[in-house]
Amino acid sequence: MLTRPLFITVFIALLMTTFLIAAPAQDRTLAATPPMGWNSWNHFAGRVNDADVRAAADALVSSGMRDAGYIYVNIDDTWEGQRDANGVIQTNEKFPDMKALADYVHSKGMKLGIYSGPGPKTCAQYAASYGHEEQDAETYAKWGIDYLKYDLCSFRQIMREQAPHDREKQMQLMHEAYEKMHQALLKTGRPIVYSLCQYGWDDVWKWGPTVGGNLWRTTDDINDTWERMSAIGFGQMGLARYAGPGHWNDPDMLEVGNGGMTEDEYKTHMSLWAILAAPLLAGNDLSQMSPETLAILTNKEVIAVDQDRLGKQGDRASAVGQTEIWTKPLSDGALAAGLFNRDDEEHSMTLNLRDVGFPEEAKLRDLWKHEAVSASHGSYTVKVPSHGVVLLKISR
Ligand code: GLA
Repeated sequence: MLTRPLFITVFIALLMTTFLIAAPAQDRTLAATPPMGWNSWNHFAGRVNDADVRAAADALVSSGMRDAGYIYVNIDDTWEGQRDANGVIQTNEKFPDMKALADYVHSKGMKLGIYSGPGPKTCAQYAASYGHEEQDAETYAKWGIDYLKYDLCSFRQIMREQAPHDREKQMQLMHEAYEKMHQALLKTGRPIVYSLCQYGWDDVWKWGPTVGGNLWRTTDDINDTWERMSAIGFGQMGLARYAGPGHWNDPDMLEVGNGGMTEDEYKTHMSLWAILAAPLLAGNDLSQMSPETLAILTNKEVIAVDQDRLGKQGDRASAVGQTEIWTKPLSDGALAAGLFNRDDEEHSMTLNLRDVGFPEEAKLRDLWKHEAVSASHGSYTVKVPSHGVVLLKISR
C-alpha cells in the first residue's frame, strides 16, 4: 500500500503529466513542413462552388499532385451563408453540404481547408467570425475541417473604432483577435492548421507563433503578373530566421498555370517559393492544366527543396545588377542555390562554390533539367534566360 505522502506525490505527478499532455502548446507536428495543396481564390475567386472543389480534389489525385504532396484542398472566401437563430454559421447555396464535401475530400486521402476572419465580414463581404469564434471553430471541427485561413479584412474597422488614433492598441487588438481563434481551435481538440492572413502587419513573423500561427502571410495579395510575383518573392529577404517546422512565412499562394506569366517566370515563381520554404498552394484550375503547368507543380526535386525536413528558409546570398543568387540549406548537408535573372535580357551567371561554403569538387545537379552538371575550377557559369532561373543542388 502507498503511504500517504507517496500517494500524494504520485497523484500530483499524474496530474502534471495529464496537464502537460493536454497543455495547449502549439502543435509542432502540424505543418512540420510547409503546407502543400490547392486554394480556390487565385483562379475561381468569388465563383467557387462545391463542384469546383470536388473537381479540384479529383484532379489532385488523377494528376499525381496529391502523391507529390499537395494534400490540402482549401476553400477561400465566399462559401459563407447566414447564421441560424442560434448563431451557427451556415453555408450558402454554392456549398449545399460542407460535411459531405469534407467526407469526399477525406475519402481521397486529402484534407479540407476553409476561410474566415476575425471581423464581422470577410474581404468579399460574407459573414466572418466576430463574436462567434468558438461557435465557428466548433462548426468547422464538426464538419471535419483541417485548415483555417483567418483573414483580417473588416477587423481593421473594429480596430479603428475601438482604439482611434492609437496604433499600439490597435495592434494589440489584432494580436488578441488572432489568439482568440487560436484558443477556439485548440478547444475543439481537432488538429487544424492555422493560417494567419493580415498581410504582414506589425511584423507578424515576430508574434505569429505566439498566437498559434502555423503560417502567416508576409505581404499583400499576389496576382498573376511577373511584376507582382517577383516583387513579393524577391522582397522576402531577412525573414528566414522566423520560419521553421510548424511556423512558416507565407508569401501568398501560387499563380503557376493561371496564364499571366511565361513558363520561365512560373519556374522562377516555383523555385523561389521552394527556396523560401513557402507553403505551396496551387491556385490554378487543376481540371484544365497544361502538361507544362503540371510539370512545374510536380517537379519532385524542387518540391524536395521546399519540403526539406530541416525546415530552414533560404535567403539572398548575393546580387549583381538584376541577377540574384538565393540559397537554402538542406538537411543532408547540401545546399539549394537559385540563380535568378530578373532582367529583360538573358545573362550569363557564375556561382563560385567557395562563396557558398563548398569545395571545388562539390557535386552539382540542375533541378529543372534533372541532370548533373559540372563546375570548372570551383565555379559554374550558365546562361539564365530573362525572368528565368537555374536551380541547383550542391552536395559535398
Ligand atoms: C484577401 C486575401 C486573399 C483572399 C481574399 C478573399 O484579399 O488576402 O488571399 O483570401 O481576401 O476575399
